[in-house]
Amino acid sequence: MRSGLNSVRKGLLDEPMLEACGDVSGLHILDSGCGEGRFCRLLVARDAEKVLGVDLCEPMILAARELQGESDSYEVADVQRLDHLKNGTFDLAVSYLNQCDLPDFSANTREVFRTLKHGGRFIVANLHPMRSADGRWQRNAKGEKEHVIVDEYFNETERHWKMMDVDFTNFHRSLATYTNGFISAGFRITAIREPTVTEDQLSNYADLEDELRVPNFIIFELMKPTV
Ligand SMILES: C[S@@+](CC[C@H](N)C(=O)[O-])C[C@H]1O[C@@H](n2cnc3c(N)ncnc32)[C@H](O)[C@@H]1O
Repeated sequence: MRSGLNSVRKGLLDEPMLEACGDVSGLHILDSGCGEGRFCRLLVARDAEKVLGVDLCEPMILAARELQGESDSYEVADVQRLDHLKNGTFDLAVSYLNQCDLPDFSANTREVFRTLKHGGRFIVANLHPMRSADGRWQRNAKGEKEHVIVDEYFNETERHWKMMDVDFTNFHRSLATYTNGFISAGFRITAIREPTVTEDQLSNYADLEDELRVPNFIIFELMKPTV
């Protein structure tokens, strides 16, 4: 992450995520599944008053603490169970590619809902369900990419894949499962974004070319009603 090998964050998702968060100055923010804390630091740089990053992976939290400032703090916890956090604590919560890692995204959604203030917002970046279903490219005889395969869409189970020589496990869920999960937790869906790249971004991150053709990610903007 710190050596910039993953262009998806800087080249594609950071900008719409920050736009979706809006003006964060003075806000108390939860980053659910914060990894080594990079998005927490971006929020602090935009004058967030307090950012709490939570992640189950201790080495990630130790790495985040190495760069910790006065406004951000980090703790090891399972974001599906945040009993130690009080109701109505945060103005804003973010989940940056974390829900697709969770066996029970609804439990996380309910916990975030509980810990948000009324009128608080939850910004969720996730793998796009059309992509997490299968996601491989169908290629022609010359090996050229023809289209992305959407298959096993209704089979909501684990998916296993490899990136940069690392094995990953994600949980694929349909668009209906995500949206209905957010709604049944009590959230209102205020916007949905499907990020793509501009020519400018492409000139810096040529490996994002596929993003012009097929959505890889989806961002949900959710709000806890004011009463
Ligand atoms: C794809 S990474 C994203 C990290 C960070 N948000 C970012 O954008 O760099 C997913 C993160 O979710 C964390 N995670 C997975 N399951 C978790 C759980 N049950 N509770 C808390 N964190 C979890 C992983 O340790 C990992 O850091």
